[in-house]
Amino acid sequence: MNYNTSIVKIPENLLIENNIDKITGLPVFKKANKLLNRGELVAFPTETVYGLGADASNSEAVKKIFKVKGRPQDNPLIVHIANFEQFERVRNNNFSLDDDLYNILNNFWPGPLTVILPKSKLIADRTTANLQTVGIRMPSHPVALSLIESSDTPLAAPSANISGFPSPTTAQHVYEDLKNKVPLIIDGGHCKVGVESTIIKVKDEEIIILRPGGISREELANISKRKIKNNKKDIKDERTKIEQKAPIAPGMKYKHYSPETKLILYKSNFENLFKYISKNSNKNLALVMTKESIDKLKKKNDFDLANIELVEIGSLNKIEDIANRLFYTLRELDKAEFDSIIIEEIPEKGIGEAIMNRVYKATSDLI
Ligand code: TXA
Ligand code: MG
Repeated sequence: MNYNTSIVKIPENLLIENNIDKITGLPVFKKANKLLNRGELVAFPTETVYGLGADASNSEAVKKIFKVKGRPQDNPLIVHIANFEQFERVRNNNFSLDDDLYNILNNFWPGPLTVILPKSKLIADRTTANLQTVGIRMPSHPVALSLIESSDTPLAAPSANISGFPSPTTAQHVYEDLKNKVPLIIDGGHCKVGVESTIIKVKDEEIIILRPGGISREELANISKRKIKNNKKDIKDERTKIEQKAPIAPGMKYKHYSPETKLILYKSNFENLFKYISKNSNKNLALVMTKESIDKLKKKNDFDLANIELVEIGSLNKIEDIANRLFYTLRELDKAEFDSIIIEEIPEKGIGEAIMNRVYKATSDLI
């Protein structure tokens, strides 16, 4: 597979207007649909991260996604839909849904929520890695909606990165990973949410969060009568490994969301941080912190920060901005070739839970 990858930019004014009709009328969608119908891949923006799309009913097309990303075959893909009519086509209608679940979907769709349900025959087995369930999501980005609607097929789409790397939140980041591997990248600007969708499974009176994401547990609890539970196992292992300081040899840890540069989580105190920095004074370090911590750090004039690249990721008053910049910052710093990137812990409230889930999976050391 060797393509001359083209990036086609959607005019910003149409994105700001959220004008789906005008967007769908752009020539790029004809081209994209031709590719999708032929079983080719198209990378496109969503409000969370960029996706790498294929016709979810076409097994050969979906096979390409796994190949291009280097994704393990047993990791199922999320299917993206544009409306509730498509929703009924991708799920197994022998299972009836209750009012509470419809209420959840009506509230958060289109948006960063994925729900796991029994799948219909339309969805290729390869899409769901042979599971009888499918993750379904209706994204809110107008370009994603235009593409799915006009292609008239649900799109299987994982994040448009090489497996293991941080997800892409700009078309440029998609290009850096998938150049010559895909024919078309649609550029719809910087993704607003910046971390992936929340994945839920509904079981009796419970909602189980399989992956925290763009919709917080607090938001779900406001809408649903069900009890919200965590898939605690998800990051428990990562957390224990890091917190017990079990030695992690490079390449031993299952890589997820990770930049190539070593990522270190900072969650203790300035004293330990300063100790670490002085011990590693010969190293080229980047320190990613909230505005609040940077302000405090700058007041500490007993410490020399001259050799540290300080990167402000956002304010705790607007934690959404931190989510928005997380993957972007990791990818940009990765290009600058630091010896290590130190990233500060964020409180696990609201979207902070999704942020820390990604950070725990990406880090291999702790201060
Ligand atoms: O925001 C998002 O969800 C983005 C954009 C592109 O929509 N997509 C995304 O896809 O994050 P991906 O492939 O990077 O992550 C999908 C996750 C995987 O962890 C997979 O295991 C889980 O969804 N998943 C998919 N189908 C599933 C199923 N039937 N049961 C359990 N987990 C499933
Ligand atoms: Mg991914």
